[in-house]
Amino acid sequence: MSNIIVVGAQWGDEGKGKIVDYLTEGTDVVVRAAGGNNAGHTVINGGTKYILHLIPSGILWKDKLCVIGNGVVMDPIGLIEEMNKLRGQGVTIEPDNLLISETCHLVLPYHRALDLAREVKRGDKKIGTTGRGIGPAYADKVERSGIRAILLTRPAELEEELRHRIAEHNVTLRDVGVDEVPADETVAKILAAAAILAPHVTNTTVRLHEAIQAGKKLLFEGAQGTYLDIDHGSYPFVTSSNTTAGGACTGSGVPPRMIDHVVAVAKAYTTRVGSGPFTTENEAIGDMLHNMGREFGATTGRARRCGWLDMVLIRYAVMINGADELAITNLDGLDGLDSIKICTAYRLDGKVIHYPPATISDIEKCEPIYEEHQGWKQDLSTIRDYKDLPDLAKSYLNRLSELAGARIALVGIGPSRDQTLIA
Ligand code: IMP
Repeated sequence: MSNIIVVGAQWGDEGKGKIVDYLTEGTDVVVRAAGGNNAGHTVINGGTKYILHLIPSGILWKDKLCVIGNGVVMDPIGLIEEMNKLRGQGVTIEPDNLLISETCHLVLPYHRALDLAREVKRGDKKIGTTGRGIGPAYADKVERSGIRAILLTRPAELEEELRHRIAEHNVTLRDVGVDEVPADETVAKILAAAAILAPHVTNTTVRLHEAIQAGKKLLFEGAQGTYLDIDHGSYPFVTSSNTTAGGACTGSGVPPRMIDHVVAVAKAYTTRVGSGPFTTENEAIGDMLHNMGREFGATTGRARRCGWLDMVLIRYAVMINGADELAITNLDGLDGLDSIKICTAYRLDGKVIHYPPATISDIEKCEPIYEEHQGWKQDLSTIRDYKDLPDLAKSYLNRLSELAGARIALVGIGPSRDQTLIA
């Protein structure tokens, strides 16, 4: 038995989609357990580029079961758009290969409107959300006023609940000074979406346990990254769910003792979208990567902020996720550099620390302590065997592994499925 959780060790966008796609070959069921369509996973296969937001990337494989777990917040209209786009690319999506948890919460048009309005209100303190309504949807869930996917199978109840919640949220929308959500139009749209999605809605926890009993292997596809976790991330510049390994269990109903491995995915450098402190941020690295056509967000198209690899963050991520293996992606992004820096610790108020501080003001005061490595100055993208990597690239990876306290299992040297090396 081998059930694996894949998590991001940084601020999301670590290339998890590709690593999950790679690991999917040896698994039977792929599960999303947190987040929503704020995620954007890019997978390139057979020359075709697929962008996934809510649907687990296992959908690109013919015989895999994909599950949207109870911990996800699911935008019915966004999900249908995504399904249609993938179908247009030849992907098969049926009620028997894509299951939606009956207890996952819906993201509705008023959540999006509130998300955008609150960001405007925050002014220069804005979080830089994806504008997908994620925060307001999770807020309703925790406040116990959310609508769950089970109602997609009960149109009369859904309509009644929607009308009630639209009226309630329109009061809030008026308060923040933005347009109300039109009730009749919204109800009609969601009912139409419900008719399409209802056959996919089921008790996914039972289905996952049945799969485990039958000896099937599960892969939990993490969304976002450790430092966007609502508890462990750089609060308040975080998303609204538990993006760390524990979230895979609460967000699916699969208990911790049924998990065998945790793989943490990290880029060979650091990126972040949205606001918030970023200790190793470096504009020159950003310019270099953007000029290479890299590091633009899959969901929003925004240019990502870039910087040197921060091992303080990765070591802490390995610890709280219980990661036994690391997948390092985008190593080829560093191909052109003469010299590469790794941040090994921070200096805060004159003291050397090895963990990220809790407050934004302390993080902002942290100075990175770097060690420097000689660059390999070679195109890695055509290499197909780990042992063929240049010695300088291997020593960079060995140092990462040593600093992180986890074995490097996979190394990405390009976006395609065959550009993943087994270490
Ligand atoms: P939200 O999840 O849209 O509320 O956004 C909150 C923060 O998480 C913002 O900084 C977003 O840019 C960031 N974020 C959310 N999803 C992703 C993702 O998939 N990759 C990278 N950043 C993300």
